[in-house]
Amino acid sequence: MKLRLDDRVLLFGKDESYLVTVSRRKFNVKSGIINLGNLIGKSYGSKIKTHIGKEFCLVKPTVIDYFSKLFTRGAQVILPKDISLILAYTGISPDSFVVDAGTGSGYLTIFLAHYLSGGKVVTYEKDKRFVRVAKENIKSSGLKNIRLKKKDISKCIDERNVDMITLDLQHPGKIIKNAYKSLAVGGWLVVYSPTVDEMFEAGKKMKKYFSDVKIVENIVREWQSERTLRPKTMGLMHTGWLMFGRKVSS
Ligand SMILES: C[S@@+](CC[C@H](N)C(=O)[O-])C[C@H]1O[C@@H](n2cnc3c(N)ncnc32)[C@H](O)[C@@H]1O
Repeated sequence: MKLRLDDRVLLFGKDESYLVTVSRRKFNVKSGIINLGNLIGKSYGSKIKTHIGKEFCLVKPTVIDYFSKLFTRGAQVILPKDISLILAYTGISPDSFVVDAGTGSGYLTIFLAHYLSGGKVVTYEKDKRFVRVAKENIKSSGLKNIRLKKKDISKCIDERNVDMITLDLQHPGKIIKNAYKSLAVGGWLVVYSPTVDEMFEAGKKMKKYFSDVKIVENIVREWQSERTLRPKTMGLMHTGWLMFGRKVSS
């Protein structure tokens, strides 16, 4: 595929990388200037040089690059390591119907919508500031299978026969009964929380309605491989817990 105006490209250099949109502009990088107009007609995998000869490989960006280099962050977001468990533990299929709340910056919504190539995500956000941030991120993602509702999900969930509901908000316990009503039999409720007391409270409610309830934490430890091979001294120590429950009767 030949690159055209408005295509997105990851410029991957030795010590630096940038996500750019093909245009006729000049773009400053640490090691010089790149004329983005020169990307037109090139293919992913080919190379481009700055005005002082530093080389960059042209890489097709993925949703993970959008997370780190394109989207705006408002509220605390769910990170890929935790999103991976949501997909793996529920085994949700790409044609599923998912409800997500609160939207926040829209990271989880966007990742889910990206995965649900034949499905869709309805996401609820009650705060207009985050609606604005999420709308912008959703627009930049280019995804068309997301519906953002400015609404308090604790009041009501409009959707029925939902395959999965994800909750990343305060007081998730208040929403569990309504989530149960909205889910299809066999559907999953996933609650994410950074605090153990909230998990404890939500857990009591969850066990009243859902089967197979489990709480997990995904601890990821990165290793360094320069000179010696050993775990990195600094890293992401804590994000949150995930609680899963499955609806088995109507
Ligand atoms: C931690 S953020 C969610 C981050 C999001 N999962 C992401 O990955 O970007 C929590 C959001 O939930 C919203 N929220 C809290 N209670 C809500 C409710 N009852 N209904 C809808 N949104 C709610 C907050 O305004 C906030 O934006």
